[in-house]
Amino acid sequence: MKKLSIFLMLFVLLFLAACGTSGTSGTGGEEEELKELKVMTDAAYAPFEYMDGDKIVGFDIDVINAVAKEAGYKLNIKHTGWDPIFVELKSGSYDIAISSISITPDRLKEYDFTLPYFLSTNKILIPEDSDIQSADDLMGKVVAVQAATTGHEAMEKLFGEKHKDIKAFENNNLAIMELEKGGADAVVADNGVIEYYSASNPDKKLKVVGDKDTFDAEFYGMMFPKGSEYKADFDKALETIIENGTYVDIYKEWFGEEPDLDTLKA
Ligand code: ARG
Repeated sequence: MKKLSIFLMLFVLLFLAACGTSGTSGTGGEEEELKELKVMTDAAYAPFEYMDGDKIVGFDIDVINAVAKEAGYKLNIKHTGWDPIFVELKSGSYDIAISSISITPDRLKEYDFTLPYFLSTNKILIPEDSDIQSADDLMGKVVAVQAATTGHEAMEKLFGEKHKDIKAFENNNLAIMELEKGGADAVVADNGVIEYYSASNPDKKLKVVGDKDTFDAEFYGMMFPKGSEYKADFDKALETIIENGTYVDIYKEWFGEEPDLDTLKA
């Protein structure tokens, strides 16, 4: 019995000592633990987000890492695919998504977005020898798109009820594959992605045509659940990296030219 109480006393003393030291150990240099945010992306949209081996890379990834660093957060970025982004963000299992997501009135009803970080528009990817010159020429042709994107919506608007002319895929790479194997006459997707694809695959003999009358200018934003506590920090940090040159460096690295920063101030 005596042994036990000595044992207990020792234990209590050790415990108190441990508490005491942990409180004072942060003398000076110790780093503050950064909060880790869970990020979703559909990494099948080069050069914005794609898999390089088992690493998620791209312009968007560099931008969100720079923003998070500036705002004082750690990120855990997962390649979840496109559709889950819109479901999981609502369920609260993730904090933020970056995936070339265009800020649209419909999405704004259900999610919050950062300030714009990129200007984009849908364009048409076709074989070099195609006679398609505008969106109107797509009528009666088979168009491949990524499902639930702004390109998909634009085609539904153009074709009305004739949905059989639209082939919608889970990711954009599948839509491009469909075009290449002859199952579609065109792909409609964000200009940055299809211009990058046709330029980096000259052997595929593809070209890109735009149509300003049919496809609006769109802005990419980082997307949060409605009412997210992180939006303000991310907006502020995004403004900072745009002002201090970090954004320009990232842009030049991926696109080989200076960004027109005025376009972001629309
Ligand atoms: N910008 C278009 C949209 O928001 C397409 C984005 C697709 N992004 C992706 N990572 N697949 O609907």
